[in-house]
Amino acid sequence: MDNLDQLVIDARAAFAEASAAAALEQAKARFFGKNGLITEQLKALGGLPPERKRERGAEVNRAKAAIEAALAERREALREAELSAQLQAESLDVTLPGRGSAPGGLHPVSRSLERIERLFQSIGFVAVDGPEIETDWHNFTALNIPADHPARSMHDTFFLEGREDVLLRTHTSPVQIRAMLAHVEQTRDCDPMPDLRVIMPGRVYRVDSDATHSPMFHQAEGLWVGERVSFADLKGVVADFLCKFFETDDLQVRFRPSFFPFTEPSAEVDVAFKGGALDGRWLEVAGCGMVHPNVLRFGGIDPERYTGFAFGFGPDRLTMLRYGVSDLRLFFEGDLRFLSQFR
Ligand code: FA5
Ligand code: MG
Repeated sequence: MDNLDQLVIDARAAFAEASAAAALEQAKARFFGKNGLITEQLKALGGLPPERKRERGAEVNRAKAAIEAALAERREALREAELSAQLQAESLDVTLPGRGSAPGGLHPVSRSLERIERLFQSIGFVAVDGPEIETDWHNFTALNIPADHPARSMHDTFFLEGREDVLLRTHTSPVQIRAMLAHVEQTRDCDPMPDLRVIMPGRVYRVDSDATHSPMFHQAEGLWVGERVSFADLKGVVADFLCKFFETDDLQVRFRPSFFPFTEPSAEVDVAFKGGALDGRWLEVAGCGMVHPNVLRFGGIDPERYTGFAFGFGPDRLTMLRYGVSDLRLFFEGDLRFLSQFR
């Protein structure tokens, strides 16, 4: 076979092998470059006698044209392949059903917090809140838990880095102190001091995590201070609230004697339902008691003249019970398959 025919065959094979534009340009250089195979053939024509030159020149030009045609064809094929790959990658399936925009809804715990606020507002409580980053004094000292008191270790506290006097509040009880100080200030000219009735919902933090404990959780603190506030009032308000909250009378409520440094006497409130996933199981939902005289004093109120009760509910636990959820952590994982059931 003529070496020119072989050149054309080699060129076609080299172009076919090039799978991208850059490789194709390299293959082209092998034939048309400064020392390319076709270029050499053209150069060689110069040394031929005129008769032979014309004949050979025509043959070389035919081979050159054939290779150029193969090159152009391959270029076009590569360009098309590239375009269709790009179209493929950017393709939209316009026949897919639209995602739509689902209606949002309140988080189940937010619903409980709103319910708690509303129920207490209906019996004359005012909703107030306090800072989540709290001073050690409000969170502990003013609640009758002095430095080095063993009760501080009941709360696994997150402190702010490099600060010993500032922390993430471990309960909403420090808002009691803020509410008392503000109330005393606002009613300075009144005698007797009008009753203070506040409900204080919010987030609190503890180094704690299992099915019924979360490192961030909620509490709703309540406080009623006045001239003749008794433990009987506390029991009535708490039991009545729980029946309203759960919309049932099939609810057992018990006050279990307990200890808190800021109340005396103190109790914990447990509830149990008949039926359902949690049938017969007692679950603690609140701590409560009569406000300790030292705490009233820290709040600027005379404990010889006024008494009060306080309670701290766990709205996350109340929500678990209300909806029959057995793991508290589900509320804070943000999984829409779980949350959208409450919409
Ligand atoms: C307190 O925090 C007291 N400040 C409550 C109190 C207020 C007592 C006023 C007296 C007067 P305790 O640590 O038990 O108490 O928490 C109160 C409620 O918060 C518990 O009954 C429970 O329902 C909820 N709770 C406590 N720890 C967690 C947690 N890690 N995750 C979810 N809920 C919790
Ligand atoms: Mg407790």
